[in-house]
Amino acid sequence: MTKGVLEKYRSYLPLTDDTPMFSLGEGDTPLVKSRAIGEMVGCDELYFKLEGCNPTGSFKDRGMVVAVAKALEGGVTGIACASTGNTSASAAAYGAYMGIPTTVIVPKGHVSRGKLAQAIAYGARIMLIRGSFDHALDLVRDLTERNPIILVNSINPNRIQGQKTAAFEIVEDLGAAPDLLFIPVGNAGNITAYWMGFHEAFINEWTSTRPKMMGFQAQGAAPIVRGDVVPDPETIASAIRIGNPASWNSAIRARDESGGTIDMVSDEDILDAYKLMASREGIFCEPASAAGVAGLLKHARNGLEMEGKRAVCVITGSGLKDPDLANEIEPEWMEEYPPDVAAVEQALTVG
Ligand code: F0G
Repeated sequence: MTKGVLEKYRSYLPLTDDTPMFSLGEGDTPLVKSRAIGEMVGCDELYFKLEGCNPTGSFKDRGMVVAVAKALEGGVTGIACASTGNTSASAAAYGAYMGIPTTVIVPKGHVSRGKLAQAIAYGARIMLIRGSFDHALDLVRDLTERNPIILVNSINPNRIQGQKTAAFEIVEDLGAAPDLLFIPVGNAGNITAYWMGFHEAFINEWTSTRPKMMGFQAQGAAPIVRGDVVPDPETIASAIRIGNPASWNSAIRARDESGGTIDMVSDEDILDAYKLMASREGIFCEPASAAGVAGLLKHARNGLEMEGKRAVCVITGSGLKDPDLANEIEPEWMEEYPPDVAAVEQALTVG
């Protein structure tokens, strides 16, 4: 039986004897070596941490299992979150598994179809609001302050605790921390969690170094880079379409303490990286996940020295989450044939 994040990392998480232990199979995700992009940027050791392999297809499950366990420990009557889609899918799944009513508040028209389908299938109460993720988060904060419902967004510290375990796994797999970690930034919980994880791994002497944290926002939704709230964030990467990140300050701390950067990438660069990941690496990720890869390609173009470095790109979610965007990709080769082997053979021979 799968151990899961709670059991595997029990002594590093804020759990007690009264915390219920359960798992949907989150964590222990693959770290896959790059075959093409590493070579393109002159890096012998580039790896992808495939967080889309978590049970609901994104990294959110690592933190959600801890947040839901702690909520149950406290005698919860319901959980709620705002979301650009993945948090809601994850909350709905763990809520369904543990039998807790789950309310998800999402920006109408800005959640990809796969993610909404998940929340529907898991049976969450779904509230579509006319506004951005930032409005939804303000709303759910008020709602959970006024009612006995637990907020399971990443401002809930248990979420960050769970998500830090991805950094533990990278250190375990590589035998040390990488030199550089490339990661997309939206609400900025995950960059905060990875930095906490690498820091704890350092304190526990599992690694003698810590990586430079290289965070990337989308150009149309880059409040941290611009140093100001973006009232109307816009990007093709709907998961990171956020104008006022809740973990802004801790993201800046991660950047500064690690000697890294938080920069932005254009939608065009995100789309290029998204296609490159699938066609050259065999990894179909969601557009937001490609933002970190786009950041690596941008910085390598601008002269970042990658030779002799060990780097990891966090691939935060699965490409199947956003089928509409996937269907916009021009197929390399897709034609119609009669069910006739000779016709098919001829087409293949001709090329
Ligand atoms: N990648 C994916 C696939 C995401 O879903 C998110 C955030 C991020 C990156 C950014 O992570 O917010 O911790 O900086 N999704 C949230 C959600 C906002 O509601 O699902 P972050």
